[in-house]
Amino acid sequence: MKVLVIGSGGREHALVWKLSQSKQVKRIYAAPGNPGIARLAELVDISAEAVPELARFASGKGIDLTVVGPEAPMAAGIADAFEKEGLKILGPSQKAAQLEYSKVFAKNFMHKYHIPTASYETFVDCEPALQFLKSVSFPLVIKASGLAAGKGAVIVNYREEAQTVLKQMMVEKALGKSGEEVVIEEYLDGEEISLMAFCDGKSIVPMVLSQDHKKVFSGDEGPNTGGMGTYAPVDFVSDKEIERMQEKILQPTLDGLLQEGIEYKGIIYAGLMLTSAGPKVLEYNCRFGDPEAQSVLPLLETDLVEVCEAMIEGRLSRLEIEWNKSYATCVVLASAGYPGPYEKGKEIHGLEEVSENEGMIFHAGTKLVNGILVTAGGRVLGITALGETLDKSIEKAYRLVDRIHFEGMQYRNDIGRKGVLRTNA
Ligand SMILES: Nc1ncnc2c1ncn2[C@@H]1O[C@H](COP(=O)(O)OP(=O)(O)O)[C@@H](O)[C@H]1O
Ligand SMILES: [Mg+2]
Repeated sequence: MKVLVIGSGGREHALVWKLSQSKQVKRIYAAPGNPGIARLAELVDISAEAVPELARFASGKGIDLTVVGPEAPMAAGIADAFEKEGLKILGPSQKAAQLEYSKVFAKNFMHKYHIPTASYETFVDCEPALQFLKSVSFPLVIKASGLAAGKGAVIVNYREEAQTVLKQMMVEKALGKSGEEVVIEEYLDGEEISLMAFCDGKSIVPMVLSQDHKKVFSGDEGPNTGGMGTYAPVDFVSDKEIERMQEKILQPTLDGLLQEGIEYKGIIYAGLMLTSAGPKVLEYNCRFGDPEAQSVLPLLETDLVEVCEAMIEGRLSRLEIEWNKSYATCVVLASAGYPGPYEKGKEIHGLEEVSENEGMIFHAGTKLVNGILVTAGGRVLGITALGETLDKSIEKAYRLVDRIHFEGMQYRNDIGRKGVLRTNA
């Protein structure tokens, strides 16, 4: 079969890599892809958000399955457009994707279906939001309702700071339309983890738990990023607690969607805060997390094509999904300055002759210029290694990191450490 993967980051590289292992897959296309993906797939020069062009391409090429990586095409209705053309696609409809692209929708949904989340208020006008600040205690979290590429959630510690953020979002429209409506919510304290699940509209099956490291610097210092590294599974969360997450979060999410008349097919990602009062949902995403996908997909033993088709065809409950018993750690290598302004075009060294035994190198912001691989984004590479223990996978990943170099390369040196310390505690 012919498969098309949409997107160009590390998550999409991991998806293409996993799909390439399927015996059913003869050919993979990626739009627009990146130089790492190009080793496994044919790149198609169409942007991930150009829905009509992508549908035309898929029809023309006779693509049997399309897998969508990022959120923007889902929000733009790619699944609806493909289905209309009779094309098989993994990804929720535009209506279903609201869980991610409207935080107001997601919060109201959670409230209605008693899914544990931070208490909140929503605002469409700045003045009442500013008034509201007079009656609350800090810290608080202010979130733009729409998609904001990771820049839409701000933790504020005092009222003046909150006022500034609200004015930037709602009056100056620093995030465009995405910030016209905001959620102001309770600050939750705890350990943050990523609960991703496969959903076929009728059943919802959790993947192994993973943990991202959002802050740019080791020790959870500095500003939030798109994610500096992940590991999986998360052993300090017991099987019993995972069962509770299924019962209190995933199943009610699916039931709520059905109540709302939404048939959700695809990945549901719940960002969770493990608070002293139990796990609470910070947000939903309608796709794999990135970099979570780079540690979780390498642990998936079942053919990803089979899993995708089971989701699309509504027969997930009859599929046995198997996971490798190892641990995976993914360390993100970023450009100097990230998540702020960063330089591009730095030559990347040390990627030659890496065997899969040593680990996987997933490309994100890379580019070929005159045959030379250079940096082209904030997050440049994701280095993933598997090991029998979490400790071993961490050690292996960093051994590979040590061989790679580009000017200004920055990474956290403590990815996975939390997992080791907490599990041994
Ligand atoms: N209520 C909250 N309490 C504490 N931290 C939060 C809260 N909401 C979000 N955060 C932090 O901010 C990050 C980004 O928020 P999130 O809701 O995931 O928005 P987005 O991913 O769209 O930027 C989270 O990963 C988490 O670290
Ligand atoms: Mg998030």
